[in-house]
Amino acid sequence: MSFKGQHILSVSQFDRDRIQQVFQVARSMEPYACRKKRTKVLDGAILGNLFFEPSTRTRVSFGCAFNLLGGEVRETTGMQSSALAKGESLYDTARVLSSYSDVIAMRHPQSGSVAEFAEGSRVPVLNGGDGANEHPTQALLDLFTIEKELAASGQSIDGMHIAMVGDLKFGRTVHSLAKLLCLYKNIRFTLISPTELAMPDTVVSAIENAGHSIELSDSFEGKLAADIVYQTRVQEERFASIDEANLYRGKFRLNQDIYTRHCKSNTVIMHPLPRDSRQDANELDNDLNLNPNLAIFRQADNGVVIRMALFALTLGVEHLVSKYECDVPWYSNKSSFSPL
Ligand code: NCD
Repeated sequence: MSFKGQHILSVSQFDRDRIQQVFQVARSMEPYACRKKRTKVLDGAILGNLFFEPSTRTRVSFGCAFNLLGGEVRETTGMQSSALAKGESLYDTARVLSSYSDVIAMRHPQSGSVAEFAEGSRVPVLNGGDGANEHPTQALLDLFTIEKELAASGQSIDGMHIAMVGDLKFGRTVHSLAKLLCLYKNIRFTLISPTELAMPDTVVSAIENAGHSIELSDSFEGKLAADIVYQTRVQEERFASIDEANLYRGKFRLNQDIYTRHCKSNTVIMHPLPRDSRQDANELDNDLNLNPNLAIFRQADNGVVIRMALFALTLGVEHLVSKYECDVPWYSNKSSFSPL
């Protein structure tokens, strides 16, 4: 099962074996991510990091992952500064930019755009989010995080209870994660959202067809005693107007008091980030920062090793990483990778 030369466009490309293959390579990346060692396995390789939609963590973690493997990163950000604004097709952009790069990571506001771009690309393309459609690398890092966090209390993904909360209509991360979870067994899903922002029917059907149990709710009340609470932001950029987005902002605010009253003592809190910390939203209050079950920053850290693994696998160097190893001469206090 080789990933070499392949695009990573959708979670539908994965089965459980392929997921474990990515996770195994990701675990082997941890010493490099925490600067215990470095590797130059991608010395000379170029990542085209094309982000046509706002992003901090996804864009920077793709770039950082590539740098940690010894490669160079070329950034293009924003539609207006690219020739797409002059009417160039995704196909033409892909033909040209894939000549300048060895691999491309791309985010774009339209559903299906990254797959369309990939048709014109001569190098592997990794989908960093296409509209409200998919975000496969986020889903892999979310799943990796869930597996690690649950393992710490002797649990596994099979049989777990996950509550997904917030904008489940436009949130691409929950779409991709729910589809990946269809590969597992006997999961209990609680989907909490305003009715207007419910999970799309196609995803609900996929969950049902996988034999999982599913409960829909428009309120937190009595629904948060899950193994994982996956909170999301109202995706205001996908609404017709800010006024419409404002109708839903702040509907589900999780803070320590609600956690203590409604969650289990070890419920893991996740969020793809950014959390909307403005007062009228505040979906994950800062008073949770000291809660050891708040996994959001470990989740973001995991994004780096997952993306390192995907680059190593798609460029076919996963077995050569340690061969090109060298020392880290500078001071670093990152003694372990994203400690629990
Ligand atoms: C998410 C995204 O862009 O879909 N962020 C991310 O990639 N970590 C979620 C969001 O923006 O709310």
